[in-house]
Amino acid sequence: MTTPKSTPKPTPKSTPMLELVNLAKHFPVRNGFGKQTGLVKAVDNVSLRIEKGGIYGLAGESGSGKSTIARLIMGLTKPTSGDIRLDGENITGQAGTRAYGRKVQMVFQNPGSSLNPRRSVGASIAVPLDAHGHPRSTRRQRISELLDMVQLPANFAERYPHELSGGQKQRVAIARALAVAPKLLVLDEPTSALDVSVQARVIDLLVDLGRELGLTYFFISHDLSLMRNFAERVGVLYLGQIVETGPTAEVFENPHHDYTRLLLASVPVISAEEEAMRPKIDLIDGEIPTAEKLLARRAAEDAARAKP
Ligand SMILES: Nc1ncnc2c1ncn2[C@@H]1O[C@H](COP(=O)(O)OP(=O)(O)OP(=O)(O)O)[C@@H](O)[C@H]1O
Ligand SMILES: [Mg+2]
Repeated sequence: MTTPKSTPKPTPKSTPMLELVNLAKHFPVRNGFGKQTGLVKAVDNVSLRIEKGGIYGLAGESGSGKSTIARLIMGLTKPTSGDIRLDGENITGQAGTRAYGRKVQMVFQNPGSSLNPRRSVGASIAVPLDAHGHPRSTRRQRISELLDMVQLPANFAERYPHELSGGQKQRVAIARALAVAPKLLVLDEPTSALDVSVQARVIDLLVDLGRELGLTYFFISHDLSLMRNFAERVGVLYLGQIVETGPTAEVFENPHHDYTRLLLASVPVISAEEEAMRPKIDLIDGEIPTAEKLLARRAAEDAARAKP
């Protein structure tokens, strides 16, 4: 049977997954007597959009307002003004509800404190499943499936947080966030409590999952370098305002704002040429060579380069 296909309408621009429009959050500053003496503009007129399936990286130093934006998106705090739109729908009043939780989930910085130490991994993952009415009969199976997604064996369901490494805990937190199959994941410094090598593996996992499940990411970090190979677009937040935004490569190659340059100055590798020049780490016997061997090789390379 053939169904007549309607001629595709020219879509002007697809609806973004998330859109923040002139979003602001101000906190009153009070003195010891409770009298308001000032105002902190934690988030000051922030607008941004993330396309469906996109990865947006928000960078900025401590206190720039990153977590406040995450909390606003999650509905954990109300905006002073502005709109939050999810898939074209204004969700400003809806954020924080169960229906909203099905669409948006968050992974926090510290997996140690975001997991209940008295709950087994399986019980932790079961919390969102139960809250969203997942049938009990398939709960076990779903927990195994989620553990498998984050590359942990099914028997981890019986383990407790203190039996896990930091990276494993963060994988469990990711599995829990994915339990209700959200469309948008807000990641607030998800890897900053982890060692660099573990950090990279968690990021790789997130990238793979994002592709497989068609997720959209709002990725927050104070570390701009982390976003380089991960985010498609980045925004730089400074005192509650986005002072620079654009495709990641462009911002890295040609930063316009002084503050972005400052953030980039601490990034070890900046340009593509420098990246190409950097000695690659070759595995020796399938292992990362020791620092000693690596330094010896770099010294040899430097010496070779210094020769005319
Ligand atoms: N509930 C609150 N009451 C008053 N001020 C607040 C509140 N929450 C945040 N702030 C202030 O808002 C500003 C932004 O804080 P926020 O936690 O969003 O920064 P951040 O970029 O996430 O920092 P970090 O990198 O340290 O996590 C800070 O000046 C902070 O002190
Ligand atoms: Mg924060």
